[in-house]
Amino acid sequence: MNDYPKTRALMARGSEFLGSDWAILCGAMSWVSERNLVSAISNAGGFGVIACGAMTPDLLDAEIAGTKALTGKPFGVNLITMHPQLFDLIEICGRHGVGHVVLAGGIPPKGSIEALKDAGARVICIPPTLALAKKYLRSGADALVIEGMEAGGHIGPVSTSVLAQEILPELAADHLVFVAGGIGRGEAIAGYLEMGACGVQLGTRFACASESIAHPDFKKAFFRASARDAVTSVQVDPRLPVIPVRALKNKGTDEFTAKQIEVAKLLDAGEIEMGEAQLQIEHFWAGALRRAVIDGDVENGSLMAGQSVGMVSAEEPVGEIIATLLGECEAALEKR
Ligand SMILES: Cc1cc2nc3c(=O)[nH]c(=O)nc-3n(C[C@H](O)[C@H](O)[C@H](O)COP(=O)(O)O)c2cc1C
Repeated sequence: MNDYPKTRALMARGSEFLGSDWAILCGAMSWVSERNLVSAISNAGGFGVIACGAMTPDLLDAEIAGTKALTGKPFGVNLITMHPQLFDLIEICGRHGVGHVVLAGGIPPKGSIEALKDAGARVICIPPTLALAKKYLRSGADALVIEGMEAGGHIGPVSTSVLAQEILPELAADHLVFVAGGIGRGEAIAGYLEMGACGVQLGTRFACASESIAHPDFKKAFFRASARDAVTSVQVDPRLPVIPVRALKNKGTDEFTAKQIEVAKLLDAGEIEMGEAQLQIEHFWAGALRRAVIDGDVENGSLMAGQSVGMVSAEEPVGEIIATLLGECEAALEKR
């Protein structure tokens, strides 16, 4: 068996931190990253992460238990910072002894990092800038995922290549930094590891794995799409600060525009506050993603996908995807 020694050496810090064979995280994807995909990733030597999304504490409890039944390997949980029951979710993670929690979706609320540490979890944050990266580390984050705007789902404004150049030289020698967004092949992994990253996170490349429960029509849409089809949502009203989402263009993309106009009118009429407006927008995405992933409504649902979707052309088991990535990474490093 090929042991990929150069890759292993460059990923050593990351895999030791995660407790996995390889420092390759499958980024949490709402509705997609449930027990089947998460356990398959961890069983194949990567690191699976449950997407809690809008789940209630009871649902998260069941999902963690279900995942534990399918793998004895370490896996993580991704919690969205704006979840109204964030601290109850943290408690559930603590009760299950979840080793790693990723805090996504904005600045972690006061006390959340401390609560996770008290619960025995290591905390991974996703800073959109160098300044916030430093702030999260000062606040106690154990590791960072820097995610560029090539990624699928909710995105920041800066590309992975620029974030990597801004953050890795400054922080990667002394801290654990994983790179995400737009990674479809192992050659790119090799490049980020050489720049100092301790590992990588991919989403789009794993969304259509054989073990993913995504609807066959959702997967077909991915196989047909090219990079240019994965577009960002448009902000209709400057007062309504919606976080851009990258997804395959379809009728659902236009419906989001209509939803923003509807919410902006409610704001104008003083019928809702800004916080409620933003929550309505996020509920729209959660519902739309469910329609595409679970029901297979690829016309009206949300097909969240990164630009690397063009490199996803067929359904493959997770183990094969990881082996392909490692082979490409190792070959690139050997050629140097
Ligand atoms: C369908 C889909 C759903 C996602 N949902 C979430 C989520 O709930 N929480 C989160 O932190 N990131 C989410 N992401 C981002 C992924 O975790 C990951 O960081 C991203 O996919 C990496 O970029 P890539 O798609 O270019 O590989 C999602 C991505 C996709 C494609």
